[in-house]
Amino acid sequence: MTNQEKNTSDRKEILALYDISQIINSIPDFEELLSKVMDLVISTTRAERGFMMLRDTPQEEMSVKVARNLEQKDIDNPGEISQTTLNQVLETGEPLLTSDAKTDPRFTGSESVMLYNIRSVLCTPLKKQNEIIGLIYIDSRTTSNVFTDDDKAFLAAFANMAAISIENARLQARLRQENLILKKEIRHHYQFDNIVGKSAKFLAALSLVERVLDSTVPVLIQGESGTGKELIARAIHYNGPRREAMFLAQYCGALPETLLESELFGYKKGSFTGATANKTGLFEEADGGTFFLDEIGDISPTIQAKLLRVLQDGEMRRIGENKSIRVDVRIISATNRNLKQEVAEGRFREDLYYRLNVVTIDLPPLRERRDDIPLLIHYFLENSQQAAAKKISDLTREAKEAMAGYYWPGNIRELENVISYAIVMTKGSIIGVEDLPGSVLSHKPQAEPVATGKTMHQMELDYILSTLKACQGDRKRTANQLGISLRTLQYKLKELKQDGHALEK
Ligand SMILES: Nc1ncnc2c1ncn2[C@@H]1O[C@H](COP(=O)(O)OP(=O)(O)OP(=O)(O)O)[C@@H](O)[C@H]1O
Ligand SMILES: [Mg+2]
Repeated sequence: MTNQEKNTSDRKEILALYDISQIINSIPDFEELLSKVMDLVISTTRAERGFMMLRDTPQEEMSVKVARNLEQKDIDNPGEISQTTLNQVLETGEPLLTSDAKTDPRFTGSESVMLYNIRSVLCTPLKKQNEIIGLIYIDSRTTSNVFTDDDKAFLAAFANMAAISIENARLQARLRQENLILKKEIRHHYQFDNIVGKSAKFLAALSLVERVLDSTVPVLIQGESGTGKELIARAIHYNGPRREAMFLAQYCGALPETLLESELFGYKKGSFTGATANKTGLFEEADGGTFFLDEIGDISPTIQAKLLRVLQDGEMRRIGENKSIRVDVRIISATNRNLKQEVAEGRFREDLYYRLNVVTIDLPPLRERRDDIPLLIHYFLENSQQAAAKKISDLTREAKEAMAGYYWPGNIRELENVISYAIVMTKGSIIGVEDLPGSVLSHKPQAEPVATGKTMHQMELDYILSTLKACQGDRKRTANQLGISLRTLQYKLKELKQDGHALEK
């Protein structure tokens, strides 16, 4: 090799190393990456044929994944590869170079060398740390191109980088696959078959849900605690055209205004003490997707104004920033208060109210859809792993009657909790009355609101107060009894205070 030839070949090798470092993350398709890696090796070493062997899992045998020739074509029938070479590389973990296979004593009697007249062979392992994940093998029959020690050094360096890119691509493919499966699971969870209910009121709500799926109109979901507001919001997202994009939710009740504002809109670094870095708000993160504003009735006038801007102009501004950004989010909001009344009483902006509730979906409380109680009981039993493990499939007649007659202030969430509780308590294969929590049993059906002439809302508040009293003011226990979260209870208590009730400790 003349000096000039050597320089050209060194340059080519450096370029090939550069190329492989470039393609490490740029070729998402695994097969394409392997072909590209082989083509780079062949063109740099002027090999006639090149093979890459990989194992799919550490336990498996290696198999040929790509076979390419100098014309950058796949070789249909790769024929034999020098098994002797492969075995040696696998055993030693070191690259192997044979410049003249015919005279090399290590190849005596090697059929493949005889058969294909192979002159020169170079093989190097692909390693992940110390484990050999594959091999790169090149050969040549011409005397004019015999591999050299330089080729060997190049291929060893190249293989190190190729191994990283192959592992990377495999990992990415696996993550993509996993992600697809998870997304499918989520979507399945929010399919309509998993939204249980056949009562007329509930079906009316569902039919509205179906009608808003394909549009981006804002939807307001109203319903008491535990009636399925979030479930419906997610169902709208995961069954609509935005299902591949993000669904983000923010609870807006009982949060300090500044905290909520920074969560929703983000801020610019330095805009207030503590803003040590820029922060992306949730509206920006949900761009292209759906944003669920839970307990919207609680938001402050400042946030109401900012939200109105998002709804009106599709624009928002980070705190401390003077430039606006365009965001495309579908807004679904939920409240367990009567938002119209909030407007009437001047606590909620009327213009925002009309923007939010282009469509309102009212979710009925469970006591107004009692026909659905047995369906829900069976749904939760069937979906409980614990019930499956204990082989619990039903309730006694008395237990069913107690469930059917109960007031269900915590609605479906409470029913779900009661079933979980009963599954833990029961010793047999059928849930009996004795397995139900005291709250369900102590309730007397005659206390239904019909008899009192009170509204549902008053009834609910009365019920909370009496439970609180029975629990000697212990809020945690009261929330448990009611089957609602502590947060919801606190929120309801705040409402009571506003209504002028004196809360006993
Ligand atoms: N129709 C339904 N079918 C099956 N499960 C339901 C149904 N409605 C609600 N659930 C389940 O009940 C629980 C409470 O629902 P969700 O959280 O959507 O209620 P919510 O109205 O948002 O309550 P809160 O006001 O307390 O936030 C969830 O586990 C949900 O999956
Ligand atoms: Mg909720």
